[in-house]
Amino acid sequence: DNHLKIAVIPGDGIGKEVVPEGLRVLEAVAKRHNIDMRFDEFDFASCDYFQKHGQMMPDDWKEQVGGHDALFFGAVGWPETVPDHVSLWGSLIQFRREFDQYISLRPARLMPGVPCPLVGREPGDIDMMIVRENTEGEYSSIGGKMFAGTPREVVLQETVMSRIGVDRVLKYAFELAATRPRAKLTSATKSNGISITMPYWDERVAEMAKDYPGISVDKYHIDILTAHFVLNPDKFDVVVASNLFGDILSDLGPACAGTIGIAPSGNINPEREFPSLFEPVHGSAPDIASQGIANPIGQIWAGAMMLDHLGHAEAASDIMRAIERILSEPAMRTRDLGGQADTQMCGKSVADALD
Ligand code: NAD
Ligand code: IPM
Ligand code: MN
Repeated sequence: DNHLKIAVIPGDGIGKEVVPEGLRVLEAVAKRHNIDMRFDEFDFASCDYFQKHGQMMPDDWKEQVGGHDALFFGAVGWPETVPDHVSLWGSLIQFRREFDQYISLRPARLMPGVPCPLVGREPGDIDMMIVRENTEGEYSSIGGKMFAGTPREVVLQETVMSRIGVDRVLKYAFELAATRPRAKLTSATKSNGISITMPYWDERVAEMAKDYPGISVDKYHIDILTAHFVLNPDKFDVVVASNLFGDILSDLGPACAGTIGIAPSGNINPEREFPSLFEPVHGSAPDIASQGIANPIGQIWAGAMMLDHLGHAEAASDIMRAIERILSEPAMRTRDLGGQADTQMCGKSVADALD
């Protein structure tokens, strides 16, 4: 049987509100394109699951979802009941590490009709792909606490950069830049202050640039890079960054393009040895959860990235066209974009706008 099997994991907060809208659009587009796609929903990787079972996921989670073609994920985190590092290291970060999803691909694009918080910017001025290293770097489990509870208490957490780990994310970013008209790659660094790992990152970028003479390469320290994102976002095409810097840039880029509510991400294992995971960039947004007002477009766009990854590029571009149509209708926009539409209205209007 060659149908696509998708593991659906809504998670917490607005994850549970936007995932159904993502599924609504996926089901509609699958029907139009005769794609046989089936969904299995899982209640783990949520703080509700933790409260019942004392852990975020069952011991056999890998067996339960590892055979699926992809994971369609909402958001995790409910800090009122479970500390964030416990809920995230017990779920999302396990998926990324255990399924070796070493690429986090995060587009930031100013969409036609969307109000831009930066003065005078038009669609086309902001169109970047952030390629974030997703399995090592600053997010390492190496470290610990010494002299706990005493005045001499010390905590440390090491940054890990392996040659394989750095080179594979750089290679992905260079190859991606080579497919884009501007063929430009910017590297985020901090080699002036972080004096061992970041100079190593720069060195590997310079080494790989030799293999890609057609790509124009530049680098900025992360501090001034954040300023350029705001002041000169048109400078950027593909931006490659370590795990932490990529995390920061992938909220900043979409915010510069109007809202983090429409930003998608693919956690990708390019070798396809394991399933990849598609989710919005945003989190569970406890401040607006259960009000039905979250923007579902980040989740819907993540569905388009998932279809593209699974070889259904036409279905993916249908979704993108529908998203563009809906975003240029002020009445269909959610509150984060200055509109009045609720989550379901917005999701339904995208499904209805499919060709
Ligand atoms: P957040 O992204 O959840 O929310 C930040 C702000 O953006 C909030 O004001 C929220 O209301 C708004 N927002 C986010 N998504 C929106 C949407 N779709 N529509 C409209 N507004 C939206 O970030 P946070 O507040 O730092 O984190 C909340 C929780 O989510 C924490 O537990 C955090 O650890 C977790 N988190 C999870 C993920 C993930 O699962 N990938 C990502 C980020 C944060
Ligand atoms: C993201 C999130 C996660 C990250 C958190 C929730 C651990 O911010 O997906 O961007 O830092 O990667
Ligand atoms: Mn983040």
